[in-house]
Amino acid sequence: MTIIRSRIDTSSEEFATNVEAMNAKLAELDLEFRKVLAGGGEKYVERHRKRGKMTARERIELLVDEDSPFLELCPLAAYGSQFTVGASVVVGIGVVEGVECLIVANDPTVKGGTSNPWTLRKILRCNDIAKQNRLPVISLVESGGADLPTQKEVFVPGGRMFRDLTNLSAAGIPTIALVFGNSTAGGAYVPGMSDHVVMIEDRSKVFLGGPPLVKMATGEESDDEELGGAKMHARVSGLGDYLAADEQDAVRIGRRIVARLNWRKQGPGPVAPSIEPRYSPEELLGIVPPDLKIPFDPREVIARIVDDSDFDEFKPEYGASLCTGWARIHGHPVGILANAQGVLFSAESQKATQFIQLANRSDTPLLFLHNTTGYMVGKEYEQGGIIKHGAMMINAVANSTVPHISVLVGASYGAGHYGMCGRAYDPRFLFAWPSAKSAVMGAAQLAGVISIVSRAATEARGGTVDEEADAGMRAMIEAQIEAESVPMFLSGMLYDDGVIDPRDTRTVLGQALSAIASAPVEGTSNFGVFRM
Ligand code: COA
Repeated sequence: MTIIRSRIDTSSEEFATNVEAMNAKLAELDLEFRKVLAGGGEKYVERHRKRGKMTARERIELLVDEDSPFLELCPLAAYGSQFTVGASVVVGIGVVEGVECLIVANDPTVKGGTSNPWTLRKILRCNDIAKQNRLPVISLVESGGADLPTQKEVFVPGGRMFRDLTNLSAAGIPTIALVFGNSTAGGAYVPGMSDHVVMIEDRSKVFLGGPPLVKMATGEESDDEELGGAKMHARVSGLGDYLAADEQDAVRIGRRIVARLNWRKQGPGPVAPSIEPRYSPEELLGIVPPDLKIPFDPREVIARIVDDSDFDEFKPEYGASLCTGWARIHGHPVGILANAQGVLFSAESQKATQFIQLANRSDTPLLFLHNTTGYMVGKEYEQGGIIKHGAMMINAVANSTVPHISVLVGASYGAGHYGMCGRAYDPRFLFAWPSAKSAVMGAAQLAGVISIVSRAATEARGGTVDEEADAGMRAMIEAQIEAESVPMFLSGMLYDDGVIDPRDTRTVLGQALSAIASAPVEGTSNFGVFRM
């Protein structure tokens, strides 16, 4: 029998407490999402509409197939920074004429749609997603180019935006630019580097330098239309391939372009029909305790996200702190690695390594469900070779070539974050639950380590430790690390692709796996040298 039998008592006090804590976190998150949806705020949205324009989100909505889902990515980018949360660009995966595309839409209501350092990081992240998964890219352009006050952080690395576009094209991945407004200076290279360009009469303005700049540079008198209007580009320069009458027409033409791509996904499709799990996704709210020191069984999560709650566990009797096994999500086969007791020991590391090798042999994508405090420390474990065994797992993760998806459901600390395919290990997608926390170690431990080190240094200098100051410092550091470990903050830094409602996990994973299947899925047997 491979159907998971849930052991959760949904009528228990413990379950209710967990739900309450998760709901509180979701409410906090909702406040931020509202800010994201508001774009540049009422004043700027109003002005934008008065100009007869659609917002970035309305443009996307019109572009994607009716009633199809849009998987928005990195919506909280720039959270915790001086910039508007969302980073003046809306991005995600949407279905256009039946083709999964990566859509990048500047939000002109936020500082004229200019690119600040977070906008840039978000767009570069999208380009990586498009490249790795072979997703056609549709840019909905209306941007004043670089955010000038932060140009030092944007200008030099920003060159990659344009390089990526032409690299995508060279890899046979189509790039389409629908130009809704300004696309000035560096921004002019977005249509410049795209395979297909649509411009809108009397709206699109694409020039390297506007009239004042030209006047300054060469003394020439000119106007917007002569320099970079849609008609000029369609009839004279040849930069515009299609001349649209208005925004709706541009979107219509964009959809026709996609329809004519004759696009074929190169990866494997689902291998079986999608069967709903036997347990309600609502119950995912009550599994993770607010105190992450309390362990929870990841099988309860798996039971609520995989097809038919059907899970073939691999090596269930060995390395019990890591649960591994095979399942399907919306018909796509996956191998799952899920932390069960938090700590990773040598046996778990060896089990993970073998499992990752097996997934590579069978070309099966891997899903990592994080809840780890890291690899075990201590004399016994060091002598038992925890470093080499952890390194073995990290080696396997780093060199595995099947697609990986990570979901941070609880803790993701220390090298455990790496071994479980953290951001630096390039999972195709990484999502976090509101309950997640990630840092080099827990806040209390980190503050304690700093305190021990600084006390020892004071004593070595012959000084005496000021207990009050030490306690104050510890509290301050603990608060800082705690604030920096939460998903909203990490999402703001683009360390994940989005904080998701636990109830949406199966849907999000289904969308991600489907997008992943746009590219071939091929495992490897070529790993680094394993230290046995
Ligand atoms: N860097 C930083 N802030 C910018 C900016 C830029 N490149 N371009 C515009 N902004 C700011 C404006 O100062 C304004 O801020 P405020 O409302 O807080 O005062 C806000 O964005 C909106 O600009 P506004 O000019 O009112 O909007 P608009 O919709 O009428 O025009 C642009 C938008 C982009 C066409 C226009 O602002 C513009 O031409 N900007 C300069 C573009 C440029 O030369 N870029 C060079 C990049 S290499």
